[in-house]
Amino acid sequence: MSSSTEHTEDTATASPPKPHDSPVRVSRLGYVSFETPDVARLMEYYTKVLGFALVDDSPQQAFLTTGADHHCVIIDKAEVARGRSIVGYEIRENLDDAQRRLKDAGIHGERRTDTGPGTPDVLVLTEPETGATLHLYEDQQPSGVEPTFDHRPSKLGHVAAYTTSTGNMRSFYEDAMGFRWSDSIGDFFVFLRCNADHHAANFMQSDTMSGMHHIAYEARDLTHLQTMIDNLARHDYRLYWGPGRHAVGHNIFTYHEDPDGNHIELFTQLDVMLDEEKGYYEPRPWHEHFPMCPTTWEADIAAMNMWGPIPPGMIKR
Ligand SMILES: [Fe+2]
Repeated sequence: MSSSTEHTEDTATASPPKPHDSPVRVSRLGYVSFETPDVARLMEYYTKVLGFALVDDSPQQAFLTTGADHHCVIIDKAEVARGRSIVGYEIRENLDDAQRRLKDAGIHGERRTDTGPGTPDVLVLTEPETGATLHLYEDQQPSGVEPTFDHRPSKLGHVAAYTTSTGNMRSFYEDAMGFRWSDSIGDFFVFLRCNADHHAANFMQSDTMSGMHHIAYEARDLTHLQTMIDNLARHDYRLYWGPGRHAVGHNIFTYHEDPDGNHIELFTQLDVMLDEEKGYYEPRPWHEHFPMCPTTWEADIAAMNMWGPIPPGMIKR
């Protein structure tokens, strides 16, 4: 292996499966909300450019989905654009148990029945370090939307945010929310999973940056990804990075900006861990190691990009 792709096995800090010892066990990332001064413009981007289905809307708010769940994106009217103001997670516990177990762990959660359509019963927490609002729920109401095979993403994949401490954030997500550690880049970028997908949440430590880093929507395969990008071009959206293959997570990625300047990743072929007890990702021919286990990568270009163009100043600390 060349020095540019060296990384260290980090089993000492790998997370063993924790099926029952955290107050809450998140089963998947459900939705992310965006604040925007122009609801109609962002709604048009999501429906026409990305192909989302509009489930519910008003001049102040819109709910959009890629599939059976009522929504995976919420757009809220606000003075200033902001990504990731709310993150919704589906959990395995019922909300009564989750609230009690979180309280026992010293974490306050407020039960709400008025947060919006599709999720009539929600436990609301405040994320440490960022102050973002977290919604925990048992399930969503159905969207009633017919499946399509066009450019609509297959699902919301992950959302990344800046934090003042990746260590504190990792502890919260592992110890309170039942996530497992998937990979790190150096000591400043951590990737966490709540199901087989390599990551649903990732956090970059920064003293100067805050808020959302990027949000990622999944394509079924390369052909689907190409269709999505061709549709971006039809609407005059140009990639600013990619296509390429990340080493961390090994997904093929592309990045562009939405009308508010939020960073949007469209990706496919993300690593999956199907057997938590074995603790390695399903073997792929592009992996650096067999088995491919959670790792701390050196902070260099190889961790971000196995092939494809150089990132345009992506890492800002
Ligand atoms: Fe990503």
